[in-house]
Amino acid sequence: MRFALVGTGLMAQEHIRNLALVEGMQVVALVDPEESSLDWAKASLRESFGTSHDNIACFANVSDMVGAVDVDAVIIASPNYTHHDVLLPLLETDLHILCEKPLCTTVEDAQDIARRVAGHQGVFWVGMEYRFMPPVSSFIADVHTGRAGQLRRLALHEHRFPFLRKVGDWNRFNRNTGGTMVEKCCHFFDLMRYIVQAKPVRVFCSGAADVNHQDERYDGQVPDIIDNSYTVVDFENGVRALLDLCMFAEGSEEQESLVAIGDKAKLEVGIPSGIKVFSPRSAQNTPAEIVREHVDVDSSVLAAGHHHGATYFQLLAFLDAVAGRGPVQVTAEDGVWAVAMGAAAELSAREKRAVEIAELLPL
Ligand SMILES: NC(=O)c1ccc[n+]([C@@H]2O[C@H](COP(=O)([O-])OP(=O)(O)OC[C@H]3O[C@@H](n4cnc5c(N)ncnc54)[C@H](O)[C@@H]3O)[C@@H](O)[C@H]2O)c1
Repeated sequence: MRFALVGTGLMAQEHIRNLALVEGMQVVALVDPEESSLDWAKASLRESFGTSHDNIACFANVSDMVGAVDVDAVIIASPNYTHHDVLLPLLETDLHILCEKPLCTTVEDAQDIARRVAGHQGVFWVGMEYRFMPPVSSFIADVHTGRAGQLRRLALHEHRFPFLRKVGDWNRFNRNTGGTMVEKCCHFFDLMRYIVQAKPVRVFCSGAADVNHQDERYDGQVPDIIDNSYTVVDFENGVRALLDLCMFAEGSEEQESLVAIGDKAKLEVGIPSGIKVFSPRSAQNTPAEIVREHVDVDSSVLAAGHHHGATYFQLLAFLDAVAGRGPVQVTAEDGVWAVAMGAAAELSAREKRAVEIAELLPL
């Protein structure tokens, strides 16, 4: 498989390291307007694949790459606000596409892309990879096989470090990212929908930019991105879900923890510990028979990224879809829903009211 990488910054480095772990993968073209990012990718390719890629085909924009070099698949890891325009020429081809999350920064752009994907021949996949962290996948399988009984409540917690610096600092402003609830939290809204297996109906988010980046200035402007929030989502099947985000909690033992409670038991999983906890209900005053399990991930896979193996396992699933061995697991429609839920949360936090999903996306 010959890959082109569009956007060769931080996330592209992770894709390079993971591509190098899979036999038969090659990176044959790079697209980035920044020379320093192209050089970063070449160095990373040399290190990961063990061969010089100094003469690899490089382009400043994606239109110049299309048709100029033979590729089979493209990974888009350019800033969120570029995804829509980067995708337009690619969707005119039959190339397989893995587009980093969020699909786009607005619901309208995401819907436009989903419409175009319907007429596209290749695989189209949105990189909402948290589904593919092995402990999370195992937790989801437990929920879906009924280990908790009928699911009633789902809580997702992310307590982590502030947003990292990006090339050109694009991630400091909502206009470039879609807002934190889209940019970061599309992962969690996708997880919610996937776990609950129903449509979200309404969203209430209380969130603000309270602590991080307030002393930073970019052309005199203060970053406006939410750094902490609580978001409650009601689903069509009666399940209620919570997303608890705090981006000034880098001391936290678990970065992510997921808690699903059904009518028979409570299920939990933590990242990075990889520990799942099963706590069945018990008769009053009787201790529950708690089961703790550890979900292992190969150390070379863990070392290839910052997402607990997700990038690697997502790549394998993407390759299965390309080879016709498996389905597209994160579709353009999934991408649209995640953007819509994030946009609803942003609107809710701004206007301090519950937002019906139907206001943004007809159900
Ligand atoms: N899946 C995940 O968990 C995850 C994690 C981090 C980032 N991401 C996503 O990956 C994407 C890239 O993020 P990053 O952290 O690598 O950012 P980054 O700033 O480190 O890199 C982005 C690169 O894209 C380049 N670029 C800008 N405009 C471009 C264009 N029109 N065409 C091609 N390249 C262009 C920039 O010069 C830069 O080198 C974003 O969409 C982000 O949301 C996903």
